[in-house]
Amino acid sequence: MKGLPVVAQRHEQRVSTKPRRKLSKSILALVLLACAPYIFFVHTLSHDSKPVLSSLEEAYRASVIAKCDALRTPAGPPPSFKPASRLASNGGKGNERFVPGTEPVLLRNAKIWTGARNGTEVVFGDVLLDQGLVMSVGYIPPSVLAKYGGKDRMNVLDMQGKWVTPGLVDLHSHIGVESAPHLRGAADGNSRKAPILPWLRSVDGINTHDESYQLAMSGGVTTAQILPGSANNIGGQAFVIKLRPTSERSTISKVLEAPLTLTHNASDVGHVPWRHMKHACGENPDRLYSQTRMDAQWNFRHAYDEARKIRDKQDEFCSKVDQGDWAGLEGSDFPEDLQWESLVDVLRGKVRLAIHCYEAVDLDGIVRLSNEFKFPVASFHHAGETYLVPDLLKKTWGGTPSIALFATNFRKKREAYRGSEFAPRVLAEHGIPVVMKSDHPVLNSRYLLYEAQLAHYYGLNPALALASATSVPARAAGLSHRIGTLAEGYDADLVIWDSHPLSLGATPEQVYVDGIPQLSKPTVLKKPRTFQDLPSVPNWDKEKNETVKWEGLPPLKGWKKGGKVRLVGVKSVLGLNDLRSGDDDEAVFERGSLDFEEGRTVIVEDGKVTCIERVHGDCLRSIIVSSDDDETVIDLKGGAIAAGLTTYGSPLGLVEIRLEPSTNDGKVLDPLVDGDLPSLLTSGKEGGVVKAVDGLMFEGRNTLLAYRGGVTTAVTAPVGNGFLQGISAAFSVGAPHALERGAVVQEETALHITISHLLSASVSTQIAALRKLLLDGEGRWATVRKGKMHLVISVESADIMSTLIHLKKEVEDETGDELKMTFSGATEAHLLANQIANAGVSVILTSPRPFPGTWDQRRILAGPPLTKDTSITTLLDAGVNVAIGVVDEYAARNLRFDLAWIALDSNGTISQNQAFALATTNLHKALGLSARSRVVVPDLVLYSGGGALDFGSKVVGVASAARGVVEIF
Ligand SMILES: *[C@@H]1O[C@H](CO)[C@@H](O)[C@H](O)[C@H]1NC(C)=O
Ligand SMILES: *[C@@H]1O[C@H](CO)[C@@H](O)[C@H](O)[C@H]1NC(C)=O
Ligand SMILES: *[C@@H]1O[C@H](CO)[C@@H](O)[C@H](O)[C@H]1NC(C)=O
Repeated sequence: MKGLPVVAQRHEQRVSTKPRRKLSKSILALVLLACAPYIFFVHTLSHDSKPVLSSLEEAYRASVIAKCDALRTPAGPPPSFKPASRLASNGGKGNERFVPGTEPVLLRNAKIWTGARNGTEVVFGDVLLDQGLVMSVGYIPPSVLAKYGGKDRMNVLDMQGKWVTPGLVDLHSHIGVESAPHLRGAADGNSRKAPILPWLRSVDGINTHDESYQLAMSGGVTTAQILPGSANNIGGQAFVIKLRPTSERSTISKVLEAPLTLTHNASDVGHVPWRHMKHACGENPDRLYSQTRMDAQWNFRHAYDEARKIRDKQDEFCSKVDQGDWAGLEGSDFPEDLQWESLVDVLRGKVRLAIHCYEAVDLDGIVRLSNEFKFPVASFHHAGETYLVPDLLKKTWGGTPSIALFATNFRKKREAYRGSEFAPRVLAEHGIPVVMKSDHPVLNSRYLLYEAQLAHYYGLNPALALASATSVPARAAGLSHRIGTLAEGYDADLVIWDSHPLSLGATPEQVYVDGIPQLSKPTVLKKPRTFQDLPSVPNWDKEKNETVKWEGLPPLKGWKKGGKVRLVGVKSVLGLNDLRSGDDDEAVFERGSLDFEEGRTVIVEDGKVTCIERVHGDCLRSIIVSSDDDETVIDLKGGAIAAGLTTYGSPLGLVEIRLEPSTNDGKVLDPLVDGDLPSLLTSGKEGGVVKAVDGLMFEGRNTLLAYRGGVTTAVTAPVGNGFLQGISAAFSVGAPHALERGAVVQEETALHITISHLLSASVSTQIAALRKLLLDGEGRWATVRKGKMHLVISVESADIMSTLIHLKKEVEDETGDELKMTFSGATEAHLLANQIANAGVSVILTSPRPFPGTWDQRRILAGPPLTKDTSITTLLDAGVNVAIGVVDEYAARNLRFDLAWIALDSNGTISQNQAFALATTNLHKALGLSARSRVVVPDLVLYSGGGALDFGSKVVGVASAARGVVEIF
C-alpha cells in the first residue's frame, strides 16, 4: 500500500466484512456522477481486501467516507500557506485564471502601496507581472529580467514615481444582479418569496451585460463580492467575481475560487474555496414581509436550528463511518438537505457571512445568534451603529467581524439615522477592521476609492484607508491569499494612479486584472505635482468625540457671534462678486477671487466683511470701521473666505428620513398619475399650485451638515413621483425656521416638472400635457409662458430633450415670448450640446459623475480615463449655461468636493472659479434665483487650512450679513 495516497490508506482500514447494504437509486446515481475520482481508489483496494465486497458497495462506502472527510476539511488555504508558493518556479499551480498569450509587464520606478501590513507598506521600485501573477515587487534582479529576453518580449513601462496599488476589492456590490441600465428583465438581486432563502445563489442572477463592469474597473475596482439584496433575512449565497471580460463570456468564468457546490469538481486552486452568504436584519426585510424585529430573529433561529439538526445527524453518521460501523448505518442515508446545506456549512465555519445590519438592537441579535449556534461572521455591512457598540462586536462568536461602511451616505432610513462619517476612525481606534464599500448601484462602484478618501478626510489613518478598499475586504472575503495585496504570488491585479490614491479625484491610468490591461487608450490627466503627496486632512477630534458622546446625533448648530470678528491667516477669497454693493468697484470684487502669498487679515462686523487687509492696517475694502472690545479672533491657517454654495436637486428641507413618511413633506398629487386633483385644490385663482416653501422644514441633519460643508442656500422643488412637482423655494440652509429674517431667500424660484419613460403615462402624453399647459395654462403657467419664471424639466434622455427644444420653439413662435427653460438631471445632454446652447436652455447635471442607471441615462459620457471629455466640458465648450446638483440630500454636504473633482477631471480646462460658478452663479441663472431676492449679501463661508475646493480644508464658520452674525462651528 506504500504507493497509495493517505486518504486511500485510511479508507482501506475501514473496509469491513459486514453484509452488503441495499443501495438506494439516488445514492447509486450520486456515486456514479459525483465520485468518479474515488472509484479508482476502490478498485485498487479491492485487490488487496480479503472478503470481497461488491464494487457498488465499495464505491458507496468510499463516497460516504469522502463526504465525511469533506465535511471536516476547512475552507481556504491552510494557515501556513504562502502566496509565493503559487509561482511555478516554486512548484506552484499559478493563477488558474491566466490567459495564455498575456504579455508579461514590467512597471519600473513605481511607488508601490502594497496593502500589506495593514496598509503601512510602501515599496519604491518595480513590479513584474507574468502568468497572471505578481512575480516580483521591489528590486528585480537583472537575472530575473534576462529570462524574459528583454523589452521585445515584455511590456516595460516607466511609472516615473506614480502610485501603484493592488486592484480594489468591493466587498458589497450588486453588479450583474441589479444591472445597469436598470430594466425589469435584469433585476435579479432580491427574491421576494420568503424571508429565509439560504438556497438561493446570486451567481444565478449575475448578468454578463451590466454596463457597470467596465465603469467599475475604470475606477480601479477589479474584484467584487456580489451579494443578493437585503429584502430577506437570508437572501442567499454570494459569489466573488473578477470584473474583467472573459473569452468564455460566461458568468461562471468571472467567479473567483468558485465553491465546490458550484463546480461539482475537484478544486483547481489547491484548497476548498470559501463560500459566501448574505444575511440582513432590520428595516428592509421587515418592511417587505410586514414583520417585526422579533419575527426576523425567530426566522434566523429557526433556520439555524434546521441546519443544526442536519449537522448533528451528519456528525453522528460520520462518527459511525469512522468506526467502520457499517451495520449501524444500515438503512440510513447520509443526512443532507439541499435547502439547508449552505447553512450547515455556515455552522461548519466554511462560509464567509456578510450581514447587512445597522442598529445596535440588530447587531445584538446577530451576536447572540452567532453565540447560540456557534458560527463566525465575516463582516457587518452598512453597520451604521457599529461604532457605538465596539465591545458588543467583539463578542461575536469566532472573532470580531470586519465592518463595511459608506463614508457619508446616511439617514435615508431610521436605522441609518445615526450613521457617522467618523465611524471608520472610531472603529479603527477600537482595533476593528474597517472596509469601505459601494453597495453598487447604490453608490457607483467606480468611486469606491472616494469612500476611502472621505474616510481618510474624516480621520481614518491613511494606511487603513487604503487597506479598507484592498487587503481588509480581501481578508473578509477569504481571498487575502491572492487579492488585495501586491506581493509575490498574488494575482496580477493592480492599478496605476495619476495621483496619490487618497487625493480627491485620483484616477487610474491603467488597471490590470490577471495581468491583462483593462483600459484601452486611457485618457491620462495632468495633475498638479502636489497631488502625488498624501493630502493633509483637518482635525476632527472634537466632532468625533461629540458624535460618540451623543450616540450619533451631536448638536450641529454653531455658536453665534455678533460684533467684530477678526479672521487671520486668510490666503484666498473666492466668489465674492456678489459682494459688490454698487459703489464699490475694487478689482477683487470684479474678478471674484483673490489669492494672497501670505495669510491676511479680514475683519467681519455683524456678519459683514468690512476690511480685507492690503498691508498691515490698510484695508483693501473698508465699509465701516468701528472699534469693538469684544473682538473674536479666528485663525484660518492659510484658509479661505468664499461665497456660500447653493445646492439643488435633492429634497433637502422637505425630507428628513426619506423612508419615514412622518418626517417628510410627502408627495404632491399628480394629475397624470393620480387622476383629477380634488376640486378643493384646483378651484380658485391659485389653481392647484404646490409650493415647496409651504412645506419647508429647517434644521434637519442633512441640512445642517450641508451648512457645515459650505452650502448656505438650497433650492428645493416639491417632491413628486409624477409629471408635475410644483414651485421650488430657495432657503437659507443655516436658518432656524421660516420666520427668521432671510430664511426664505426666494419664495417662488421656478416651476418644476418631469418628463420620463419611467412614468406610467407615455412620454408623448406627458409632452401633450406640457404643450397644453404652456399654450393655455393659467396662473404660474402664464408666468412661465411670458418668460417670467423658469421652467425646470427633469429629463435624462437626449430624445426627450430634442422634443422639448422643439416644443420650446413651437410655443415661442406662438406667443412671441422667450421661454426660460432648464434641463435638470440631463445625463444625455452632451449629445445635444450645440442644440441646447442654440436654444438658450440651461443644464443642471444632478449626477456630474454620470452613471447609466436608467434607460434614459444610458448614453453617458464617462469621463477620464474612459473618455477625454465630460458632459460638463462638452456643454461648457458649446456655450451652455451649466450647473450641477445632487440627487440625494445626504450628498449636499459633499458639493464642494464635486466641484473640485470636476475641475480635476477637466485636465485644467475648468478653473477653480469656473467650477465654483457651477454651484453658484450658473446655478442661480439656471433656476431664476435673482440676485435681488437675496437679502443684503450672501452668506460667506470660512474655510480653515485650505481653499474652498481643497480636499484638506474644513468649514469652521459662516459670516452672515443677513443675520448679522458669524456662526462658528
Ligand atoms: C493588522 O491589524 C490588526 C488589528 O486590526 C492586527 O491584529 C494585526 O496584527 C495587524 N497586522 C499587521 C501585519 O500589522
Ligand atoms: C476626545 O476624547 C479623547 C478620549 O476621551 C480625549 O483624550 C481627547 O482629549 C478628546 N479630544 C477633544 C478635542 O475633545
Ligand atoms: C492634459 O493637459 C496637458 C497640459 O497641461 C496636456 O499635455 C495633455 O495632453 C492633456 N491631456 C489630455 C488627455 O487632454
